[in-house]
Amino acid sequence: MTGAPPASPRLGRPLVRLDEATSTNDLARRLAEAGVAEGAVVVASRQTRGRGRLGRAWASPPGGVWCSVLLRPAGGSPGLLSLAVGVATAEAVEAAGVPAALRWPNDVLVAGRKIAGVLLEAVGTAVVAGIGVNVCVPLEALPAPVAAAATSLHLHARGAVAPEGVLEALLKRLEHWYGRWAHDPDAVLAAWSSRDALRGQPVRVTGAEPVVGTAEGIAPDGALIVRELHGRPRTVMAGDVSLAPGRRALEGV
Ligand code: BTN
Repeated sequence: MTGAPPASPRLGRPLVRLDEATSTNDLARRLAEAGVAEGAVVVASRQTRGRGRLGRAWASPPGGVWCSVLLRPAGGSPGLLSLAVGVATAEAVEAAGVPAALRWPNDVLVAGRKIAGVLLEAVGTAVVAGIGVNVCVPLEALPAPVAAAATSLHLHARGAVAPEGVLEALLKRLEHWYGRWAHDPDAVLAAWSSRDALRGQPVRVTGAEPVVGTAEGIAPDGALIVRELHGRPRTVMAGDVSLAPGRRALEGV
């Protein structure tokens, strides 16, 4: 490659702020369908029908960053885009002085608990990147099973944190990593791998192709590598990953 890569688009132009949305992904999808340019962002103070990966509901009370970013990618590895968004989200958390880890594909963890999640949805050739971060969300405001495995930034940061500051950091880091994703995928892999919460851990992947084994990092296309109990390495492109029963070593990450 010669010269500097082209600058990535400014994200947050326009920035649509709402008190309430069903799901910011719904509104960003409509913008995508209407032909709005890359970089538009929808952010809501709360969502009434927030959604997560694998058809799950995503609790979105006030106190979080609930936002969706409209991207129109040209080139770049599709499997790595969600990882790049995960890295950007982890860095937005770290900007508050709190170390973050990543659980494949893009859950952001603090102290072994989920603090943020990413949901990418295709709209034709566009992609809506939905990101949710618990910033000052009281855990009591989350459904009990979610709260048991979740955390919020205000419980870990030394100083005060607010959704607005985290959103600003998130859009800056996303702008950076979206540009790197297109031109330097190895940098995305390295940044993701340096925060890999599962590497070396016994895991169970559920989904279309269930696998049990030891997590061995990620492949160049973003797939999770799992070495099965009898030694065969498998790559997994989609699914849900958790620690295999009896080994909760991830707790405390
Ligand atoms: C997950 O970890 O399951 C992904 C959660 C993604 C939640 C965000 S909040 C903003 C955007 N709108 C939604 O309905 N979902 C995403």
